Amino acid sequence: MNTTIEVDPAKLPYDHNGHPGSVLDIALGHGIDIDHACGGVCACSTCHVFLREGVSSVNETIEEEEDQLDNAPNVGPLSRLACKLVPDGSCDVVVEIPEWNRNLVQEGH
Ligand code: FES
Repeated sequence: MNTTIEVDPAKLPYDHNGHPGSVLDIALGHGIDIDHACGGVCACSTCHVFLREGVSSVNETIEEEEDQLDNAPNVGPLSRLACKLVPDGSCDVVVEIPEWNRNLVQEGH
């Protein structure tokens, strides 16, 4: 299932969990629930996503994020934490929510 979200910068941040304007904030603001056990404060790894496109338009990982990603399953070079991943809007960003998190989305939380 692919979902496209068009972000209106004037509406950012959505004041949900995660860094303001982060992928988690944006997703939650559009009714897409990415698991975020720590409440979006970079203290777990449940919001692990894969950044498939748009790498040039997002913030770089910081040590805190990398430390948490060390605990995430199936981590790869495209891995990011949705609560810390902030696109700047200069191009489209494609994020894949891993399978273990997709169940949550399908249940419609
Ligand atoms: S929600 Fe816990 S690290 Fe992102």
